[in-house]
Amino acid sequence: MYHYDDFDRTLVAERVAEFRDQVARRLSGQLTEEEFKPLRLMNGVYLQLHAYMLRIAVPYGTLSSPQLRTLAHIARRYDRGYGHFTTRQNIQFNWIKLEEMPETLAALAETGLHAMQTSGNCIRNITSDQWAGVARDEIEDPRIYAEILRQHSTMHPEFSFLPRKFKIAVTAADHDRAAIRVHDIGLRMHRNGAGETGFEVVVGGGLGRTPFVGKTIKPFLHKRDLLSYIEAVLRVYNQYGRRDNIYKARIKILVHELGAEKFAAEVEEEWRAIKDGALALDEAVVADIASRFTYPDYETLTDEPASLQTARASDRRFDTWFRNSVAPHKVPGYAIVTLSLKPEGAPPGDATADQMDRIADLAERYSFGEIRVGHEQNLVLPHVAQRDLPALWTVLDAIGVATPNVGLVSDIIACPGLDYCSLANTRSIPVAQELTRRFRSLESAHNIGRLHINISGCINACGHHHVGHIGILGVEKNGQEFYQITLGGRADEHAELGSLLGPAVPYEQVADVIEDVVAAYIELRVRPDELFIDTVKRVGIEPFKERVYATH
Ligand code: HEM
Ligand code: SF4
Repeated sequence: MYHYDDFDRTLVAERVAEFRDQVARRLSGQLTEEEFKPLRLMNGVYLQLHAYMLRIAVPYGTLSSPQLRTLAHIARRYDRGYGHFTTRQNIQFNWIKLEEMPETLAALAETGLHAMQTSGNCIRNITSDQWAGVARDEIEDPRIYAEILRQHSTMHPEFSFLPRKFKIAVTAADHDRAAIRVHDIGLRMHRNGAGETGFEVVVGGGLGRTPFVGKTIKPFLHKRDLLSYIEAVLRVYNQYGRRDNIYKARIKILVHELGAEKFAAEVEEEWRAIKDGALALDEAVVADIASRFTYPDYETLTDEPASLQTARASDRRFDTWFRNSVAPHKVPGYAIVTLSLKPEGAPPGDATADQMDRIADLAERYSFGEIRVGHEQNLVLPHVAQRDLPALWTVLDAIGVATPNVGLVSDIIACPGLDYCSLANTRSIPVAQELTRRFRSLESAHNIGRLHINISGCINACGHHHVGHIGILGVEKNGQEFYQITLGGRADEHAELGSLLGPAVPYEQVADVIEDVVAAYIELRVRPDELFIDTVKRVGIEPFKERVYATH
């Protein structure tokens, strides 16, 4: 866990007081909605279809038990008993009344949570691998650098009015669990030939109307240069990014129009001037930030204790869950546990207040009081002793967060769509709900294997449909809900955009079409362990197209 200092606490408290005053002026009519809009957006408050929506940042996806309890309290006291975890390690509340917004923010501030920079044309919540600090394939905890970037970018005057919003993700593992290649800046920590650690800098990734996979503009950046280089990227963007056209304002368009090489050259020139100045990170600063992350006092344990083996052998349901939802931890005898927020028939990523409270208790008992929020809209308990897994599972199962479908066909990423969002063309959540019913058989889901379905209710792509193995995008045709299907996208270290399968299909047919696509895959794969994404890569989309459009 990272521990905020007085500076952070004061900053957050001052912002709450300021917003309280702004809300009072809006409620009394002193401010029009138009005047209030930029002020509320600086505090994560959107106006949606039915109500205001509050988006709260969970920096690099790390939450403490008291923080999760605060979220539960907000869901219960100010919302309708649930919250929605998003793909950018935020949580959204859909029903908070404007007059209660200041109290909500004050409650959040008590446990160090806030909604600053979760909307607007600034640097948004810096995201990271939800397994940061515990993953076996990681070389250093990437959150230290995410935190340095968070501190530097928070209310930074030069970067508070960028041409458009700006998203940064950091990973330090071989396997990219943070989708860094579809961010405005993606940072991948790795070792160079000399054994030093530094960052590959990827820029210009992003989805939305004009999707791009990011391009590497610096294969190896020394850690010392992290802030100065990022600052140089932002300065180039601030200077040349399009402010005249909202659809062309993201950095991805600039990188595309200039070309990655020319963009990199511009950054290099800007960087040369500031590289050895105040932004150079000295080791003492990094060590100071690192020292504010506390790590659990792990016991000396061994992997696969006898009690775990017995439980696996005697209970098939437990064993299925273990194989699906439990991952190796870098400390022997411990495990990383993913809690599925994707039960059959439910909106992906929702958790009830009661679930949040229970998970906070379980984290205290079994995971040193720490919880993570993942990009795939699930939660994680990052430090569970393997001997405790059977007892933990019993409770997770009872509260409905142990569906063993992590990474499988029913672990769907979906945006709120027409159920909440004022920009939506179509519904997303009901499509996801129907698909979880169609693929309710866990046996068949395990037979299908790893398969990511992503759904967005409009071209803004909040559900990351371009990078779903199967992507579903809602479009409107003559007032009717239609859906375009793409195949072959992925958001990991081999990030790629999916290819369009064919003409859009009406709402009533989407689930049938997806079932057909999956059935075609089962027939086409050469071995049971050839993953869906690999089959699509090998055979292309034609065989899928033939199958789907022959039947519909
Ligand atoms: C309900 C209120 C929401 C609104 C009004 C909204 C609005 C938008 C807009 C306008 C864009 C496109 C921006 C651009 O490309 O310039 C966008 C992109 C995005 N949003 Fe949302 N969004 C909402 C909810 C969500 C949710 C719930 C998630 C996560 C599940 C999310 C995650 C994202 C992501 C990951 C993108 C990706 C595209 C990118 O930035 O390159 N948003 N959103
Ligand atoms: S993709 Fe469109 S419909 Fe879905 S949340 Fe984003 S803006 Fe709304």
